[in-house]
Amino acid sequence: MTFSSLSKTYQNAGGRARALNECSLEVERGTFTVIVGRSGCGKTTLLKCIAGLETPDSGTIDFGGDVRIGFMFQDPRLLPWFTIEENLRLAFSNGPLTQRKTNREEQNKLIHETLALAGLEGWEKAYPGNLSGGMAQRASLARCLCRRAQLLLLDEPLSALDAFTRSRLRKELCALWENLGLGVILVTHDIDEAVYVGDTVYLMEEGSLGGRFSIDSKKLPRPRNYHSAVFQEYCRRIEEAIRYG
Ligand SMILES: Nc1ncnc2c1ncn2[C@@H]1O[C@H](COP(=O)(O)OP(=O)(O)O)[C@@H](O)[C@H]1O
Ligand SMILES: [Mg+2]
Repeated sequence: MTFSSLSKTYQNAGGRARALNECSLEVERGTFTVIVGRSGCGKTTLLKCIAGLETPDSGTIDFGGDVRIGFMFQDPRLLPWFTIEENLRLAFSNGPLTQRKTNREEQNKLIHETLALAGLEGWEKAYPGNLSGGMAQRASLARCLCRRAQLLLLDEPLSALDAFTRSRLRKELCALWENLGLGVILVTHDIDEAVYVGDTVYLMEEGSLGGRFSIDSKKLPRPRNYHSAVFQEYCRRIEEAIRYG
């Protein structure tokens, strides 16, 4: 998948904000790509352009064929008056991220299967208000998976969670990615998270991607150990690149 020279400027009350500036990215199918950058550098805008939720002013997006996309936001975005099952069913209605046609029986099967994959078996009839933050994000992940997304776009999905839940979900996300053969593009401002999950880590600054780091899965096999010397060395190199440009 190739995203070339994407640019996007927003018109704000306070002036113009250049969110993407000739931003280019190459992603191999089935790999785990991470984009790290400060708040406001254009990460969300990039994911939204890839998902078709925003239109870039210029640039090209080439998936190299049909790809079903799932989008996971920082907050779970579940409708509070619907049960978890009903929230997942919305993934089958019409919209840029929801175009898959299925009958109700097939939908039910997919909903139950994916809730189990996301660790929420038995919570179909619960309401979002009855879930913890981590469980709500699991439901949001299940909503992406239930339409058999092939490419997951994850916009800081774990950053609002407590440290314990975050590290558990990171591990589960890696396992799902490996087992389902998904492609993932994850956006985060957390370097540990990037090195823990990623095959490739890009640094984003002021609307474009700079440094690119390959995390060698032979040197650092999954599940990765945060305390190993190799892990720490990758983190150090990325931190230095961010600090000194
Ligand atoms: N819908 C929008 N309308 C106007 N300005 C926006 C909108 N979305 C983002 N921006 C601006 O674009 C820039 C990049 O934002 P964003 O892509 O959300 O960055 P990040 O996700 O890295 O924090 C910021 O200056 C932000 O204020
Ligand atoms: Mg953002």
